[in-house]
Amino acid sequence: MQLPIVSLPRAVPLQRQRQPKENIPQTLSEREQIRNGLRDYVAINKAVPPLSFTDLRAHAERYVEQEGLDPIYTDYVGVLLNSEVWRDRLASVPYERRLLLLPKCLRIEDQCPAPFDEFGLLCKQCGLCSIQDLQEEAERLGYAVLVAEGSALVMAIIETGKIDAIVGVSCLSVLEKSFPYMEAAAIPGVAIPLLQDDCKDVTVDLDWVWEVLHLTSDDRTHRLNLDALREEVKCWFTAASLDELMGPAGSETERQARAWLAKDGKRWRPFLVACVWKAAQEDPDLEIPTSVKKAAIAVECFHKASLAHDDIEDDDDYRYGEATLHHEHGVPVALNLGDLLLGDGYRLILECDLPGDQRVAMAQAAAAGHRTLSLGQGAELNWTRNPQPLDTLKVIDIFRQKTSPAFEVALQLGAALADVSPEEAEVISRYSEALGIAYQIRDDIDDLQDDESPNDLIALRPSLPLAILFDRTKAKPDDRKLVEKAWRRESSAEEIEQLNSMIEEYDVVTRCQVLQESYKEQAVQCLGELENASLKGLLRRVVSKIFSIDVKDWCSEFEARNAPGSQTGASTVG
Ligand code: IPE
Ligand code: MG
Repeated sequence: MQLPIVSLPRAVPLQRQRQPKENIPQTLSEREQIRNGLRDYVAINKAVPPLSFTDLRAHAERYVEQEGLDPIYTDYVGVLLNSEVWRDRLASVPYERRLLLLPKCLRIEDQCPAPFDEFGLLCKQCGLCSIQDLQEEAERLGYAVLVAEGSALVMAIIETGKIDAIVGVSCLSVLEKSFPYMEAAAIPGVAIPLLQDDCKDVTVDLDWVWEVLHLTSDDRTHRLNLDALREEVKCWFTAASLDELMGPAGSETERQARAWLAKDGKRWRPFLVACVWKAAQEDPDLEIPTSVKKAAIAVECFHKASLAHDDIEDDDDYRYGEATLHHEHGVPVALNLGDLLLGDGYRLILECDLPGDQRVAMAQAAAAGHRTLSLGQGAELNWTRNPQPLDTLKVIDIFRQKTSPAFEVALQLGAALADVSPEEAEVISRYSEALGIAYQIRDDIDDLQDDESPNDLIALRPSLPLAILFDRTKAKPDDRKLVEKAWRRESSAEEIEQLNSMIEEYDVVTRCQVLQESYKEQAVQCLGELENASLKGLLRRVVSKIFSIDVKDWCSEFEARNAPGSQTGASTVG
């Protein structure tokens, strides 16, 4: 079956920032945690829909107590729990027999040009809010869409017999009121609560709506708990597990390399290997075999080698909140440890228990990525010897070469393990490129917002904010001169101060965010060509996972940097 093109809601980057209401957890990561927890709770307790209001309430209270949550969240938990209970049933209903209900309060009231009729808002597709994108996407899939509220209307639609499932976005109180109707009709309903309930310019977890819209039973992985998978992947990097999978570390050099490998990091690349492999399995609960673990460790070996070498090349002092490898052991040792990890990565790939052509595909993907990354680093290092101003596109081209390959190697190793088709591998390649660029842009945004190392702007690497300033000051010769000096690393302390104010003046962060969103969107767009619903669904969720996490909440670098007595400014890559 040819699945339709998927695009990301355009309104995401511009979604207004508003605090959620007090009875809704404030951060996305807290809300994600509850949703994932409920997924497991429903599976363990075998809750079968429809749950009566009393049962639902009892389950919600039990969950809140069991997890030690603030009881103020009980209503929120109840709504999410009910949705989890219906999730599989919704997935089995064809898109053409589903209704998407959107609230009109998602619009930007003061600027919305849309009129109403008796069925609700008639969207004018001005692109200001998320309604247009959600409506277009849902209609393209085959949904009926209503931008309206009111249980009577919903009941009337249910009674026509043309609708077998509902995806509803609404505020908590409206969702609660609709329970009795949904239960009476026993119609599968998955709800995504709005984050505020004041009916004006409200926001919602858009990625959730997007994910639920696309739920289909063809996707065997839609119940896969990505947080649990990440935790599992992290466990492969304990010293004991590395010794088991890589063989004992017999020498001092091997021990030093293992310690660096085990040290820290978000482990996104090994996680991607596991994700792609999972997507190809009939049974998503199947235990992950040793070959997949070895491939996952191989990509982390490559990554950690590149970090060690990059820190030498850039002469960075800190990583993971501690001294960089070459500051700990000296440059010659650090260089050699990086080399050893590269060798170990190739060795692990070749040790995978797979047919020869799959192993060759993996080694080829690794070698190609290794080459591109070195060419990207080379271009940057040669630029460093005689730094000249670069515009946005040139900087993004460097990101394409230096950051995307590691993502591509991870995804292609997973693809080879899963033995995907050449067409799918080609889509994965384009997806990785866009994902890598978006990831590096995010890193630049984080640097810019990091008060601890305000001079990152003129660090010895091409920075996107500086490229944006270069593009934006074309018509202002005095400002442009300052930017050019910064690019040539000739700025005085006072000029750096001025540059920092220009970052605000020229709205550089917003421009970076828009660029990040458009590369995320590009990654998601590529997936439209995939026919494998599991792979498509999983890779779509991966984008949300990597980018929606509140990095500062859990990033160990951040924690380390803020630990009492720490005096570092953790460096980033690149
Ligand atoms: C660092 O990557 C290099 C970049 C592309 C920004 P990560 O931030 O993913 O590396 P870890 O997680 O700290 O190892
Ligand atoms: Mg570098």
